Amino acid sequence: MIIYNSLEEFNSIKHNLPKLSFVPTMGNLHEGHASLIDIAKKTGNEVVSTIYVNSLQFNDKNDFINYPKTLDTDIELLGKKGCNHLILPDSSILDNIKSIKAPIKSMKLCGAHRPGHFDGVLTILNRLFEIINPHSVVFGKKDYQQFLLVKDFIDEKKLNINIIGANTIRNNNGLALSSRNILLTEKDKLIASTLYKTLKDIEKNKTYLNSEYLKTKLDYLKSSGFKVDYLMSCDTESLEESYNINNNDLLIAVAAHLGSVRLIDNLVISKL
Ligand code: PAF
Repeated sequence: MIIYNSLEEFNSIKHNLPKLSFVPTMGNLHEGHASLIDIAKKTGNEVVSTIYVNSLQFNDKNDFINYPKTLDTDIELLGKKGCNHLILPDSSILDNIKSIKAPIKSMKLCGAHRPGHFDGVLTILNRLFEIINPHSVVFGKKDYQQFLLVKDFIDEKKLNINIIGANTIRNNNGLALSSRNILLTEKDKLIASTLYKTLKDIEKNKTYLNSEYLKTKLDYLKSSGFKVDYLMSCDTESLEESYNINNNDLLIAVAAHLGSVRLIDNLVISKL
């Protein structure tokens, strides 16, 4: 794996490279990221990854400061997985960066609780796409709203990038793998797995799906120790609240805090 210590360094050699599949990350890599590299490799392209903790997408300063940083083990994992190129952008990535305003969909779900978050995500990705010029890009669907907004952005700007969504990787208890899990105690990890169990429960009872039913699940999460940002049933494209399971697949999405750790998860349930 070749490591580039700035976007400029990569930019100066990129004309020699074949087609690339891109896995953007903020580091603290785990099996979820490893699965993204596997998927990127399956495209047959060379794989390029980035590790950059993007200050623009953190609306909470402490969250940014405390974001886990594990560069040595990250490099080891990417190397083992067969990633070909790793870019470690330095702060010059932000020089004269063009700000992107995320569309209205970004104000729903996570965006309603993290103002400016998706503007920051799209701003940094736009810069990375410009420099890397990938053929394909792989995103985990745990961050469903992010995946959707990037997909829309690529469509709208008519970028020649094939976006691939990857299924969420979970531990034995169903807890979605996340860089933030490292901040949870073992006891908290067990409680955290309630999120997925709740989503599966909602799926099992989807014939009863309505706002009152969801409220009982929300109350259950609260009584289990979560401070819940949202538990919502919505249209998989518009992200508008919807319970119309007779005609459409629905996205059930949740974000909740356990102590100082914010966790998200989701499940797409198929129509009846
Ligand atoms: O999902 C992430 O890790 C980040 O939002 C991303 C896509 C790397 C942009 O900073």
